[in-house]
Amino acid sequence: MSQRTLVLLKPDTVRRGLVGEVLGRFEAKGLSIVALEFRTIDGETADQHYAEHVERDFYPPLRAFVTSGPLVALVLEGDEAIEVVRALNGATDGRKAAPGTIRGDLSLSNRENLVHGSDSPESADREIKIWFPDLP
Ligand code: TYD
Ligand code: MG
Repeated sequence: MSQRTLVLLKPDTVRRGLVGEVLGRFEAKGLSIVALEFRTIDGETADQHYAEHVERDFYPPLRAFVTSGPLVALVLEGDEAIEVVRALNGATDGRKAAPGTIRGDLSLSNRENLVHGSDSPESADREIKIWFPDLP
């Protein structure tokens, strides 16, 4: 079933010059870009996006990180896009993520792990509305 998912190429991806590498993996897989924006977010937007995590111990440094510089927000579309993107991203902790995944190949961190992908259809709907409220 075709789905849409919200993806972030976080500030570490931009700083490390890996936007092309990471975006290329999604494109090569066959997913379509239906929206894309380069932007720097404030703390309130970070709190909305990570609403499920705002009370966690790891949240303050995560908030500082995601607001630390420009990121690329995009919506990808394709068959089972939510699960497919999560599989391409790999496990949250880059040190444990499997080789062949974005995080497994390119990240050595549990925080600076390059990418975000929505974790369910409900999350995708919620997150797409936050980042791209005007997307039809
Ligand atoms: P989470 O939603 O658990 O991971 P994922 O991005 O794989 O869906 O956590 C959101 C982000 O929070 C995660 O990408 C990196 C950061 N994070 C930490 O900094 N420390 C942690 O212990 C965890 C679990 C996450
Ligand atoms: Mg998550």
